[in-house]
Amino acid sequence: MIRKARVEDSKKIQEMINFYASKGLMLPRSLSSIYEHIRDFFVYAIDDGIVACAALHVCWEDLAEIRALAVQEGCDSKGIGSRLVRSCLEEAQQLSISKIFCLTYIPQFFEKFGFRIIDKNELPKKIWGDCINCIKFPDCEEEAMIIELDKASK
Ligand SMILES: CC(C)(COP(=O)(O)OP(=O)(O)OC[C@H]1O[C@@H](n2cnc3c(N)ncnc32)[C@H](O)[C@@H]1OP(=O)(O)O)[C@@H](O)C(=O)NCCC(=O)NCCS
Repeated sequence: MIRKARVEDSKKIQEMINFYASKGLMLPRSLSSIYEHIRDFFVYAIDDGIVACAALHVCWEDLAEIRALAVQEGCDSKGIGSRLVRSCLEEAQQLSISKIFCLTYIPQFFEKFGFRIIDKNELPKKIWGDCINCIKFPDCEEEAMIIELDKASK
């Protein structure tokens, strides 16, 4: 079941993100940063706890980012990652935000939802705050992708 995250989910969220961060697939997150942004997060809960997370982070008047998408190993390829992305897109629509971007090494995954690759320079400079602190900066191979939701369907 997908639900909004609760504060008590924070440590497990950090564990999942930092597991993939240690493999170079995501940026590591501090617990403090997760607490501060806990309202951004959706989680996928099963009986024993949560096994996946994703966050919709509002950046600007008409721009939000999907980030921190992680599905625990062993729970992947069951549609959980896709459901989390769709929940983020639905929330963006409810917030009347029509442009959602992501920075990713797996553009094939995001293309399924209608995201398209763009030049990173098309994103506001504000976005690069996190990147500057990344050890891979500026030689990062992540793709910037964006989707424009149908304003008419808001
Ligand atoms: C990427 C991730 C979120 C996908 O979650 P998931 O629950 O397995 O996704 P779904 O089951 O909804 O979709 C699976 C499909 O996504 C695509 N996909 C998943 N991982 C992929 C990858 N690394 N490269 C290319 N395509 C991928 C495939 O088409 C896959 O289909 P398959 O199961 O038939 O192989 C998950 O594998 C994960 O947490 N990966 C590590 C962290 C990460 O890279 N996060 C994304 C940061 S932007």
